[in-house]
Order: sequence, then structure tokens, then C-alpha cells
Amino acid sequence: MMKKKITKIGVLTSGGDSPGMNAAIRAVVRTGIYHGMEVFGIMRGYSGMVEGDIQKMESRSVANIIQRGGTILKTSRSNEFLTAEGRAIAYKNLKQFGIEGLVIIGGDGSFRGAQIFSNEYDIPCIGLPGTIDKDIAGTDFTIGFDTAVNTAVEAIDKIRDTADAHDRLFIIEVMGRDAGYIALHSGISTGAEHILIPERKTSYIDLISSLKEKQGRKKLVNLIVVAEGEEFGGADELAKHIKKQIPNQDLRVCILGHIQRGGAPSCFDRVIASRMGYHAIECFIEGRHNVFIGIVNNKMNYTPLDEAVKKKQRISEEWMKIVKILAT
Ligand code: F6P
Repeated sequence: MMKKKITKIGVLTSGGDSPGMNAAIRAVVRTGIYHGMEVFGIMRGYSGMVEGDIQKMESRSVANIIQRGGTILKTSRSNEFLTAEGRAIAYKNLKQFGIEGLVIIGGDGSFRGAQIFSNEYDIPCIGLPGTIDKDIAGTDFTIGFDTAVNTAVEAIDKIRDTADAHDRLFIIEVMGRDAGYIALHSGISTGAEHILIPERKTSYIDLISSLKEKQGRKKLVNLIVVAEGEEFGGADELAKHIKKQIPNQDLRVCILGHIQRGGAPSCFDRVIASRMGYHAIECFIEGRHNVFIGIVNNKMNYTPLDEAVKKKQRISEEWMKIVKILAT
């Protein structure tokens, strides 16, 4: 069966913001207009869909935003959209504007919403992975990860200076409720001695004996990078445990927090956001519906939304081996 030609689309950003979302919005709006479509911006993610907070976008609506962090459409996590009633209202609102397809820029939770909605209603959805966590399988990169991890690296480099000046152990907590990619990349690239992530079990006994051994040989700088979702419960809990086991250990905690979500997107994030946004429109033109767009081996990759929500990235044993060998 021939798929209906889509001429009016809505675009929204949902879940935690990530640097590069604006570049993606810009690409969707401008490519859509280039192909003669009408493009509508939906405010605050699915909340704006439920509330009918929708506005037509022109090419100029997205001028001067490619370099900005955050999202001009704003974002939220909508509780109403989780209910069948909320989605029915959202559908009615889309119909009022004549919107026939949606581009959703967000993480796996946002894709889950899109999948449910597109199953219930005849509104094809295209997902673009916008999350600093990089926790979605089917893509090598997510929009915002590169910027976030570089923000973390810049901060950890600074911490290394003061750690070195005082011969101190620092525990640095980075974001990642369910995913350790920011911790892994920022830890490896700053020479951290230990990296603790939710995907891997940490042996706290080994950790303590390794710290004692380093203390014994007066190793100057010791950095532990821990993802917030790590099983021990983050940097503060880990610090308490270490203090208990090694009372004379001079240590400080630094929680990087939301600075990792903000700031100007890196060149890399702007480029992948632009490519993905462009291809979102191509998907509508080709009738490729209900997929999320990723980049794998530098080629566009299309994963059905229902598969995208089930998979998670896996962190191979090799990464952990690299950390161990390089941090001696
Ligand atoms: O965007 C993903 C993420 O950064 C997680 O790593 C983190 O736990 C979460 O968002 C925090 O989100 P919020 O501050 O919006 O609750």
C-alpha cells in the first residue's frame, strides 16, 4: 500500500535537553520547508502536544540557534502523555493543526512515548537520539554526548591540577543514571585511576586495596570517576566508604552535575544533529516511518522505534581492561 504523502509535520524536543538539539530543530525545519512542507514547533515536548502549545515555524524561526545549547522548543517529561486520555487530547490537537507526522528529538523514554502514540494513532513518528547519556543502541553517537563529555573532561583536567597540588584523591561524579559512557570516556581521557559505571559490578574490596597500594607508593594524583547511577550510590556514598576503610586518605568529592547538559554544542554534535535532522525529512519523503535515526560506521542507520526502546548499549570488557592497564 502506498504511504500517504506527509506535508505537515511537528517537531519537538523531549526528556533531558542535550547540546545540539537546536541544530537538529534547525535542520528539520529548513529541510522540511525546502521540500515544501509546513513545519510546526511543539513546545515543551509532549506537554505542548497535550496543551496544544504549537506554532508554525519559518526558516527564520531557527536563525542564529545552531551554536546555542538547550532547546528553543523547551523540553519536559510529560506525565499526561503517559495516559491514554492525554494522548487522545494530543492527537486532537495535532489534527487541529493538520499535523500528519512527528519528529521527536529525545532519549529512549521519548521514543517509548512515540512508539505507543504511533501504534494508537495514524501519526508516523521519526526519532532523533538527543541525549548526553549515549545509552541507545542502533547509533554510534547521540546528539549532545560529545559536548557533554568534553565539558566533563575540561572540568576533570582542572581538578587534576588541584589534586596534583595537594597530592589528593578526588572522586568526580559525572552524569549517567543508567549509563556509564560519560564516565568511561571522560575517565579514560583524563587518566582516571578508577572508573565506576552502572553497567559493571565494582569490587569495592579490590578498589580499597588498590587505593591503599597507591597510597603506600605515594602515587601523586588519584582520580576516581563515578557515574551517578553506579550501584554504590554516587560520589558522596563512595567517599564515605573510602574514608571508613582508609581514614587517613585525603580526599575530596566534586559532583559536576548539570553543567554537563549545557553550553554551546561541539562541532561534532552540530554536524550529526544537522545530518540526522535532514534525514528525518528524507524518511517522511521515502515513507520510512516509525524509526529512529542513528549513525553507524558513518552511515545513517534506521531502527524501528519498538526495537530502539528495548536495546541498551553494552560496554565491553576491553574498555575496563584499558582503564586498568593505563592507570598503573
Ligand atoms: O539527560 C540524561 C540525564 O542527564 C541523566 O544522566 C541524569 O540522571 C538525568 O538526565 C537528570 O535529569 P533531570 O535533571 O532532568 O532530572
